[in-house]
Amino acid sequence: MDPNFWLERWENNHLGWHQDQAHPMLVKYLPQVVEDSGARIFLPLCGKTLDIGWLRTQGYNVVGAELSEIAVKQLFENAGVTPEITEHGSLKSYSARQINVFVGDIFDVTIDLLSSVDVVFDRAALVALPEDMRNRYAQHLAEITQMAPQLLISFEYDQNVMAGPPFSVPQAEITRLYEQNYEMSLLTDEDVAGGLKGICPAREQAWKLTKR
Ligand SMILES: C[S@@+](CC[C@H](N)C(=O)[O-])C[C@H]1O[C@@H](n2cnc3c(N)ncnc32)[C@H](O)[C@@H]1O
Repeated sequence: MDPNFWLERWENNHLGWHQDQAHPMLVKYLPQVVEDSGARIFLPLCGKTLDIGWLRTQGYNVVGAELSEIAVKQLFENAGVTPEITEHGSLKSYSARQINVFVGDIFDVTIDLLSSVDVVFDRAALVALPEDMRNRYAQHLAEITQMAPQLLISFEYDQNVMAGPPFSVPQAEITRLYEQNYEMSLLTDEDVAGGLKGICPAREQAWKLTKR
């Protein structure tokens, strides 16, 4: 997907995915994926999600990756902290106590740069990517996180009714993408109240992935 699609969304403040509270499935299911409240948790394609603020209040250390510098500036402004900004090749790193966000293409984030993470929270990351990028994304994520456990949120709906993003990523595809590297369990499978974007009947699922 063309990076400009996302950069223009941020420039024009068209952020339909952004929620005004921490994701309820994060709050409910994270304890099933990670026990240590001081753990280091990676949020790929993090935007300026309020999940990060919630995780900090719970004592977690958060690391994110996000294409848009506008998003990351807003994230730190909202958190009320002044970041230290450093450059790492094509990426910038914004960091402050308990938060470190890499600005740039997630595919440029390496194991060395990311350093060790204890858990991954994927909300609106896999499902933000078109089908032809999802295989590469899943492989890259497994590689740079060394198959850290994941809490993954996905959507399933009739892609003929609505174009993504978010894209429908059916259970069979999630299994195909991840079963080679992870044990998988479906934590919940719920109706999206009112439909996706208020128009399309959809299911929202939460998965726990743990390294095989
Ligand atoms: C649908 S939004 C989800 C944001 C966040 N996870 C949330 O729940 O609010 C997808 C985000 O991924 C970012 N993004 C898209 N492609 C990316 C890439 N290749 N590398 C890093 N970030 C990317 C976009 O700028 C956008 O902020």
